Amino acid sequence: MTTASAPGKIILFGEHAVVSGATALGGAIDLRAKISVRDLPGSVLIKTEDLMLQGFSFDLTTGRLTCAQAAYATRYISAVLKEFDVRDMQVCIESRLPAAAGLGSSASIVVATVAAVSRHQGQCLSLREIAEISYRLEKKVQQGLGSPVDTALATYGGYLQISQDIRPLELPPMKMVVGYTKLPHDTKSEVKKVQELKKRHSDLVDPIFRAIGALSEKAVPLIKEQNIAELGQLMNINHGLLASIGVSSRELEELVYAARGAGGALGAKLTGAGGGGCMIALPGADGIEPLMVSLRQARGIPFKVQTGCEGVRLEGDL
Ligand code: MEV
Repeated sequence: MTTASAPGKIILFGEHAVVSGATALGGAIDLRAKISVRDLPGSVLIKTEDLMLQGFSFDLTTGRLTCAQAAYATRYISAVLKEFDVRDMQVCIESRLPAAAGLGSSASIVVATVAAVSRHQGQCLSLREIAEISYRLEKKVQQGLGSPVDTALATYGGYLQISQDIRPLELPPMKMVVGYTKLPHDTKSEVKKVQELKKRHSDLVDPIFRAIGALSEKAVPLIKEQNIAELGQLMNINHGLLASIGVSSRELEELVYAARGAGGALGAKLTGAGGGGCMIALPGADGIEPLMVSLRQARGIPFKVQTGCEGVRLEGDL
């Protein structure tokens, strides 16, 4: 058996503005997808061991039970199996990342599957090759949509600064809390909405994007120095700017204000495309627990995370 795992990601600063060339900052998080493959003569089987199961549907006529999360994961895994011309294999997936939440779950599944399958076939791909193949496959499954950021973070881990190119940054890990609204997000429609707004009101949106890009750059030395009080302020400003271009929602606002209020967060903002999906919060002096409680009370699902964690890794050839 060969097992590989890869991390999910959060965008710390700069979402949407990055689409128009401004700088963004992303970090890998320690919620991972794990893929195990083993020989299974005569079939190709994809098994889900432990997913954050959600989105069941039951068809009374056919008696068929479908789990949206499993169906979604298998689409990505099938693309990898096709790419590597896999036969006679069982693939098992375990993931702690909710799907369609903006935490890079599809990228981590693709990257871990590419790593596990290629190694099982005796190939020794470089990280660069894993990132390139994974980006191409993720984009194909998503019908042309997708930036290389998620697959790069799932492959290399750590932090990435994204502008014209993608640059790794040496920064220390940080403890954060992710709050999931339970609403799926739709990157394509949120990006389209913002780009249309920019076309109509470029005199207003361009300076907002410039300010967001400046926040992404200002954040880097603050993370380096662990100046979390100021970092929190920058997160709040970034959230306000994102709300001003229409990508927040009542559900996201409720989590952001719960985190800043009872949760004692030093800063909170939506992460990723917005609309639904997730927000992130930087714990204050009272730590993580009040944040977890306040996000649950605001009807979100909280996850403790550490940013800047390790990229794809083989869990050992057993
Ligand atoms: C989505 O995680 C981040 C966006 O900026 C889109 C992108 O960069 O591809 C909204």
